[in-house]
Amino acid sequence: MNIAIAPLLPADREKVVALIKKHDNFLQCEIDIAVEVIDGTFKPEEGYRTLVATDKRQQLHGFISYGPIPLTENRFDLYWIAVDPELGRHGIGTILLREMEKDLRREGPGHIYIDTSSTEGYLPARRFYEKNDYQIVAHLKDFYRTGDDKILYRKLI
Ligand SMILES: CC(C)(COP(=O)(O)OP(=O)(O)OC[C@H]1O[C@@H](n2cnc3c(N)ncnc32)[C@H](O)[C@@H]1OP(=O)(O)O)[C@@H](O)C(=O)NCCC(=O)NCCS
Repeated sequence: MNIAIAPLLPADREKVVALIKKHDNFLQCEIDIAVEVIDGTFKPEEGYRTLVATDKRQQLHGFISYGPIPLTENRFDLYWIAVDPELGRHGIGTILLREMEKDLRREGPGHIYIDTSSTEGYLPARRFYEKNDYQIVAHLKDFYRTGDDKILYRKLI
């Protein structure tokens, strides 16, 4: 698949929001936060960066949002990644993740952190992070709600 990666432009905002809503594993509160992060990309003072994956017809296939963790030195959070559910397992998520890592490596050695949930809906995401060499560094039982743990992944870059 011929995929181009580029920073999110305001004109693509609605396409990203529509892609987030295509995923049935996201709770409404998670969708709200994801949209907040997307909008934060357009306010440079917030420090969020979003990259989008598009094909040659400008169709949006996925996005990744990340940024520096306040009060740290070269420590970053991956806030959100999603690929069009109809195009899963075609390598698009990996391309987005690698582009983020390439971008962050330019700032010198550092750490990338990812928070995710232990629930079944996030199993593809957990497998995906593990396949891409992110390691579990904390597991907080019942963090989000009873039966829904927070799993913290980290990769050194
Ligand atoms: C996580 C996600 C971004 C991965 O994107 P992708 O383009 O499908 O990933 P890639 O094709 O690059 O990588 C495929 C690997 O991801 C994992 N994976 C992806 N979908 C999976 C699924 N349905 N079941 C199990 N593992 C899956 C596997 O490790 C897979 O490797 P394999 O096919 O050799 O088993 C995508 O599944 C997604 O958008 N999920 C919903 C959104 C989400 O939960 N985001 C994380 C928020 S914390």
